Amino acid sequence: MEAQHLVEANSTSRTAAERFGVWERPDLTYSPAVAKETAHLYERVRDFIPAIEWPVFAPYIHAINRLKKERGAVILAHNYQTPEIFHCVADIKGDSLQLARDAVSVDAEIIVQCGVHFMAETSKLLNPQKTVLIPDGRAGCSLSESITGADVRLLRERYPGVPVVTYVNTSADVKAETDICCTSANAVDVVNSFDSDTVLCIPDEYLAMNVANQTSKKILTWKGHCEVHERFTADELLEYKKADPRIEIVAHPECHPSVLAVSDYAGSTKGMIDYVKTRRPARVLLVTECSMASNIQVEVPEVDFVKPCNLCPHMKRITLPKILDSLLFMTEEVTVDPAIAGRARLAVERMINLKN
Ligand code: 13P
Ligand code: SF4
Repeated sequence: MEAQHLVEANSTSRTAAERFGVWERPDLTYSPAVAKETAHLYERVRDFIPAIEWPVFAPYIHAINRLKKERGAVILAHNYQTPEIFHCVADIKGDSLQLARDAVSVDAEIIVQCGVHFMAETSKLLNPQKTVLIPDGRAGCSLSESITGADVRLLRERYPGVPVVTYVNTSADVKAETDICCTSANAVDVVNSFDSDTVLCIPDEYLAMNVANQTSKKILTWKGHCEVHERFTADELLEYKKADPRIEIVAHPECHPSVLAVSDYAGSTKGMIDYVKTRRPARVLLVTECSMASNIQVEVPEVDFVKPCNLCPHMKRITLPKILDSLLFMTEEVTVDPAIAGRARLAVERMINLKN
């Protein structure tokens, strides 16, 4: 059966709660058994969660890990999730590109996406036959909200024949109108894969400007911004450098080009993590969402992280109690309108299959 039809079947038939059943809330007492079974997990997060608070976290972590096995579910988590989610309940972790790639090969009937809505939608596009849940469907993204499919149709009218590259941080509605998706990890390669001299790279203006600095093509863009990364300024970073010249600055390409100009490295969240793990600088400042520093710190304890704490309010909507509810009540189920699912999936698949 065509994958597109499977999406339709899922979205119009019974709800996930009806298909899988709703389970009773487990006992969430911090018992000696829970303490024993979660002790190894506490070792991973002890620098971020005070011992006195662990009895609040541990029963949720214990219940989630048991439930996901019983349900046959897999938890996908973005690098910006909080340490207790990232280190204690996630099965697959990564940047947007890794999560999209891994979503294709997930060997489970149920995917719980700990990230924002466009990530869950991408997983659903790539797994139309699977049940994809997001613990809080309100977890949006300022970039995704900056543009609609109708806007892309207008851009195509205005720039006929110009290829459209769309950042994955967009809705399926937007992806459906596009030639191919990209992430911050592969944007330059995706843009260069076209013969055309001009490419529309939307909706992140700063990512597009940063790509333009690395290609000979003319890049047209849109005025979307990430509300977290647009707050960083070059002046602020230069102040850190002045205070300690040894500090290495590692930035995400959603920042303004002037921020990248004073950085030692720029790349996707995975690229940033790899940089720190490989180079192990004495001090580093990650110019991105601040949970990520905590998540990597566990693996490189000798590195001193300077944390200007900019949190993504959308990523932070995902919490342990909501993940537990997702698994108990099979909520919130992510569906994609069958009228757009096929075209949106093609744009994501073209990106995944692009040979560098
Ligand atoms: P990455 O693809 O680098 O993980 O970025 C996703 C994102 O939303 C950054 O703000
Ligand atoms: Fe969107 Fe920015 Fe949050 Fe990433 S950090 S999900 S781009 S708002």
